[in-house]
Amino acid sequence: MVAPLKVGLAGVGTVGAAVLRILAQEQAALGARCGRAIEVVAVSARSPAKDRGVDLQKFRWASDPVALASDPEVDVFVELIGGEGDPAKKAVETALSTGKSVVTANKALLARHGAALARLAEQKKAALHFEAAVGGAIPIIRTLREGLIGNSFARVYGILNGTCNYILTRMEQDNLSFADCLKEAQRLGYAEADPSFDVDGHDTAQKLAILASLAFGTRVDPDSVYVEGISSIAPEDLEAAEELGYRVKLLGVAMKTLNGIEQRVHPTMVPRDSAIAQVMGVTNAVTIDVEEISPITLVGPGAGGMATASAVVADIGDIARGVCAPPFGRPAAGLTVSKKAPMQRHEGGYYIRFLALDQPGTAATIAQRLAEQQISIESIVQRHRGERPLGGEHAGGMPVPVIIITYATTEDAVRRALKAIEADRVISGKPQLIRIEKNR
Ligand SMILES: NC(=O)c1ccc[n+]([C@@H]2O[C@H](COP(=O)([O-])OP(=O)(O)OC[C@H]3O[C@@H](n4cnc5c(N)ncnc54)[C@H](OP(=O)(O)O)[C@@H]3O)[C@@H](O)[C@H]2O)c1
Repeated sequence: MVAPLKVGLAGVGTVGAAVLRILAQEQAALGARCGRAIEVVAVSARSPAKDRGVDLQKFRWASDPVALASDPEVDVFVELIGGEGDPAKKAVETALSTGKSVVTANKALLARHGAALARLAEQKKAALHFEAAVGGAIPIIRTLREGLIGNSFARVYGILNGTCNYILTRMEQDNLSFADCLKEAQRLGYAEADPSFDVDGHDTAQKLAILASLAFGTRVDPDSVYVEGISSIAPEDLEAAEELGYRVKLLGVAMKTLNGIEQRVHPTMVPRDSAIAQVMGVTNAVTIDVEEISPITLVGPGAGGMATASAVVADIGDIARGVCAPPFGRPAAGLTVSKKAPMQRHEGGYYIRFLALDQPGTAATIAQRLAEQQISIESIVQRHRGERPLGGEHAGGMPVPVIIITYATTEDAVRRALKAIEADRVISGKPQLIRIEKNR
């Protein structure tokens, strides 16, 4: 008989309590699949008296998660406290230092200290698994680390934050403003009281840095990700996207370029017929452009207690089976430092929306400024002023909304053209710019 795998679990909140529930419900099936029983021996949280909807009586209570991490009875330490600092960091370091395998859902900790923790895990021949840190129940970490070990990747991109996708979905479906949809998301518990970490793109950046490390061998570093959030997106953009055959999503994109690995998070126009464009509400999705074969898209619940716990339990199961590979898919010493994406060199199509002054010469000036930067126009839409072209016979000087989709160009060229157009005083206010991400 193989001895049971003994688990010490720190953090019995939304995810931790769900992990205890799944381990109890699936005890027999898990034991059969892993060839050994999985047994929780001790748990730790701040308040012993709190009702967590699960029976904790049968587990030993550890008041200090760091002490639990070095408990001799524990084989695998499961960290579900959260946060990039202590006690989560100290506890994970302690567990790995004593040769115990670790399972964590803590993207903040991994984004900041992932490479160092991976080195420690490798030195101690311990496993460090973190399937739950990105994409909730979607097995994206395993897919990149193991399922596609024989492939090279051109690009990995995804909807990694359910709050943002919920807001953009509601804005599109109900023609509501960003502020109204954010309030609704907060009322439903999809957005935090302080939503900036989600809506400004930082949560997506942390997850993207982890995916980029697995796909391209970069050292996890959220500071090397270019980040832009969704608060500037207006209902007009979503309406125009629909008309032009696109949808707007907050994407995290990591891709191979001639300048190195570009990592960026920003609102993105994606073709309406792409797999990622179909993903609505709080659901997450990741598309992997695998060289030589068609893209692979994984879609599923990206957060929530049971979805996240499903990934945590899968990691515990892997440890029970003896799976212990380098955490980021290759030895940590071989991970390369990634520089922040120089966005001025980014190449792609662009959506540009501005208010053009309806006066003679406007259209010609705009066309000339774009041509000076070798920017070719794929489509142009002028809105709400009847059939009359800009600067036509009855031009009245009132601003007219104009939307331009460009063919592939550089960000530098687009920004130069817009600067010149603004200096020419033929538009009113700041132009809106959204990058387009095409199917491969
Ligand atoms: N919730 C999700 O949908 C989700 C999705 C993906 C990843 N994650 C990640 O999963 C992890 C856990 O998230 P969660 O939503 O379950 O958080 P949570 O509900 O806030 O639970 C955190 C748990 O940690 C305990 N804790 C906090 N500080 C502690 C300390 N100093 N010592 C001991 N225990 C401490 C808390 O104890 P008390 O209960 O006594 O306060 C609580 O049980 C985080 O890394 C998060 O990023 C969560």
